[in-house]
Amino acid sequence: MVGGGGREHAIIKKLKESPEAEEIYALPGNGGMEEAVCVPIAATDLDGIVSFALEQKIDYAVVAPDDPLVLGLVDLLEAKGIPCFGPRKNAAVIEGSKAFAKDLMKRYGIPTAAFEVFTDEETAIRYLDTAPLPTVIKADGLALGKGVIIAQTRQEAKRAVHAMMSEKAFGKSGETVIIEEFLTGPEVSVLSFTDGATVVPMVSSMDHKRALDGDEGLNTGGMGTVAPNPYYTEEVAKICMDTIFLPTMKAMNAEGRTFRGCLYFGLMITPKGPRVIEYNCRFGDPETQVVLPLLETDLLTVMRAVTEGRLDQVPVRFKDACACCVILASDGYPKSYEKGFAIDIPDSVKKDVFAAGVKKSESGALLTNGGRVLGVTAVEATLEDAVKKAYEKAESTRFENRYFRKDIGKRALSAKE
Ligand code: AMP
Ligand code: GLY
Repeated sequence: MVGGGGREHAIIKKLKESPEAEEIYALPGNGGMEEAVCVPIAATDLDGIVSFALEQKIDYAVVAPDDPLVLGLVDLLEAKGIPCFGPRKNAAVIEGSKAFAKDLMKRYGIPTAAFEVFTDEETAIRYLDTAPLPTVIKADGLALGKGVIIAQTRQEAKRAVHAMMSEKAFGKSGETVIIEEFLTGPEVSVLSFTDGATVVPMVSSMDHKRALDGDEGLNTGGMGTVAPNPYYTEEVAKICMDTIFLPTMKAMNAEGRTFRGCLYFGLMITPKGPRVIEYNCRFGDPETQVVLPLLETDLLTVMRAVTEGRLDQVPVRFKDACACCVILASDGYPKSYEKGFAIDIPDSVKKDVFAAGVKKSESGALLTNGGRVLGVTAVEATLEDAVKKAYEKAESTRFENRYFRKDIGKRALSAKE
């Protein structure tokens, strides 16, 4: 397992249920991952990872984070004969370059926000003189989920473009910018398994990206999730399959960029129908922490079928239940925060905890070590119960300066009514 966050912990826990999974190594993993042997090799140390995999005679690799996928880790491992779950570099570009993704959608008629791509600041600024407001400014490349600005005024929009293109606020990622139409409607995350011939959507989910209750405050990596997402009705699912999922898979094949792995569709259900907001070339975090606990089928079996191009032969089933994950963060996240506080997880909650910003002290105690510290998930028959239970578990999992949103699932519950 390459990666070290809550998503990776959720994948590891699920893989551990497989009778075929022997030892799992996590590179670098984190101090809260008891099910894996953590090895201090960074997820972006491609050479280090390949050497380790060869030394340990690794049978199968799962590459979870965006950067090693976009950098081409899967290609390097495959070249050494190590089968992988995750797209090759030429397919991971669907997340690595928003300009690529937008152009793909335009050429293949996949519904998304109208847009223009700019590589020159002056032209972008001139375009903003007449662009409809609000307008959305996006850095082309990976920007830790922070490269999207929704500007209410022209001045704000121009400032964002200047910050990305001249001040290099996101480094090379902002040398190209996309300016796009502002869409409205509920957002839905759909993770899917695809081997390039078949696409199998997983249960839908809803992320809560802002730091504060009521979707206020700064954007974060995600403060909580629920699954399934009530806005993703059967009717919407069918439209998405026909107009987005299959066309995207086929478009990537036609480009000679067959995508094998988890393709994440970030969707907005607008009054005019579902639109693609973004593609990710990997499992979402913290979507995975609610989606995989609902997966009934053996995950390793599904992953291998994806790698070997026989996904059509594996029935992928999800429980008819609901899940809620509440992220316990360090107060101050996503800005500055203190870390190094002792974490107390009740034994009854341990199996439902996904560790992210966690390290182990020399004495073996768990300490906070990041902004998002843990995710706590509950699976129940109804969404209402899942939310209630997740909050009970969140309350009982303690550390100094713990912060969590109090309204995860609220919007989904009111949508159901
Ligand atoms: P992205 O990184 O592309 O997922 O964008 C981050 C967030 O910005 C999304 O989850 C949306 O809430 C918002 N967003 C992105 N693009 C648009 C758009 N065209 N219209 C409205 N909101 C958007
Ligand atoms: N939760 C959004 C993402 O993984 O990008």
